[in-house]
Amino acid sequence: MANRGGFTNKLGFILAAAGSAVGLGNIWKFPYEVGSGGGAAFVIMYLFFCFILCFPVMVTEIAIGRKTQKNPVGAFKALGFKNWAFLGILGIFCGVLILSFYNVIAGWAFGYFFEMLSANFIDNGKEFGEYTSDIVKVGGYSIVFMLATAFVVVRGVSGGIEKLARILMPTLVIMILGLMAYAFTLDNAMEGVKYYLIPNIDNINANSIGGALRQAFFSLSLGMGALITYGSYVGRKDNIVSSAVYITLTDVGIAFIAGLMIFPLVAFNTGGNMTDEVLSSINGPSLIFITLPGVFENIGDLGVLVGSVFFLLLSFAALTSTVSLLEVPVAYVVDEFGVRRKKAVVIVASIIFLLGLPCLFSGGYSAFFTNFFTIPFGSDTPASSDFLSLAASIADTLLLLGGTLIVIFAGYVWKKHNLNSEISSGYEGYDKSIAKILINVGVTIVCPILLFVLFVVVVMNNFFGIDLINLLFR
Ligand code: PHE
Repeated sequence: MANRGGFTNKLGFILAAAGSAVGLGNIWKFPYEVGSGGGAAFVIMYLFFCFILCFPVMVTEIAIGRKTQKNPVGAFKALGFKNWAFLGILGIFCGVLILSFYNVIAGWAFGYFFEMLSANFIDNGKEFGEYTSDIVKVGGYSIVFMLATAFVVVRGVSGGIEKLARILMPTLVIMILGLMAYAFTLDNAMEGVKYYLIPNIDNINANSIGGALRQAFFSLSLGMGALITYGSYVGRKDNIVSSAVYITLTDVGIAFIAGLMIFPLVAFNTGGNMTDEVLSSINGPSLIFITLPGVFENIGDLGVLVGSVFFLLLSFAALTSTVSLLEVPVAYVVDEFGVRRKKAVVIVASIIFLLGLPCLFSGGYSAFFTNFFTIPFGSDTPASSDFLSLAASIADTLLLLGGTLIVIFAGYVWKKHNLNSEISSGYEGYDKSIAKILINVGVTIVCPILLFVLFVVVVMNNFFGIDLINLLFR
């Protein structure tokens, strides 16, 4: 078999995986989920989910990848469970689906970098709508973004993906810390921080609980085999558990800092008025693409600089994620069909770009895709949604399903002792560690049960408008 390549060392893997994790999810989605999901109450649930429910899933994915040195489909086959290859297929489907819409948003963000540079602050809904429906412009940006992603993936694991992460991850940390420090100097910054950090229990409902869990999965790149794929390039001497800890801490840390950067900016604009009413109006994509540009315009001379840095940061974060999303189907095509990497990248990237066209059109260019879906029942969830948002919420939900199935697979099909023996390679004290307990109880009891229950809560809430938490507990 051809040499598949691999990461140079543990740090290379951690940076690449953290690069996959840190993305639009942290900087674009996390703050607005916090805003609509009840501020700090959401943050606390999110942290709990990341460390208790997601951690075992992450370790399991990496272990399966490293054990088999295969893409998600090949991995289940290599372990001797052909019947479970469907889970790999589901993962690849999810990766393709996510990249198809993610690339569109990444293209918007990248385009905004140039808009900011030319001091064009798109600061109201109408202008944003005009921007996203300008199909030549946003189409062009998303093509450029897909080409950049493909360019990196063609260069392989260590020469492309890892190298990119080694450059962009430190850059990104510096940029975000700089922006946060600046945001703290603005008027009313502390009002923003308070909203972000003081919990309001009343805001907890199916929407916010499900939202926090979906956010945790999406943000950590779990449930679709991205980490099976990256894990397949990890050496046997590397400690998977500590790698997973670093990846999680980086991801959570950057999401947290993104909130610390964004809420002071929002509070600056609302004059410190951070009520739920004010916050609920800055919902979804509008937070990053409308509210913030408005802030950049209002802060005077520095606005162009701060705005450009912000959108460059967002584009960098997105790029290390899009490469991981493309790598999954590419690894599948390379491993399973013996296609050369370059050819595989060209084919897969083109297909995904084409599949993403409805998402591209759903920003106002096509009325059909813009008002695509209406929740059949219930009333307290948004009534209609564009194609892109629908694709995003289907993907989020499938990640939960993927995560649930993978822990069930590890705990009951592949069996704990096999998982443990793979993890202990590279981690001498594993047998006596707390991590072992967390992972074992996780994959056999805690994760399968809680993830399944929450999966049902999320499906009922997102697609049927039924809030099971409110129904059962209030
Ligand atoms: N974790 C990425 C983000 O937060 C998105 C992603 C999801 C990447 C799943 C790979 C796999 O933006």
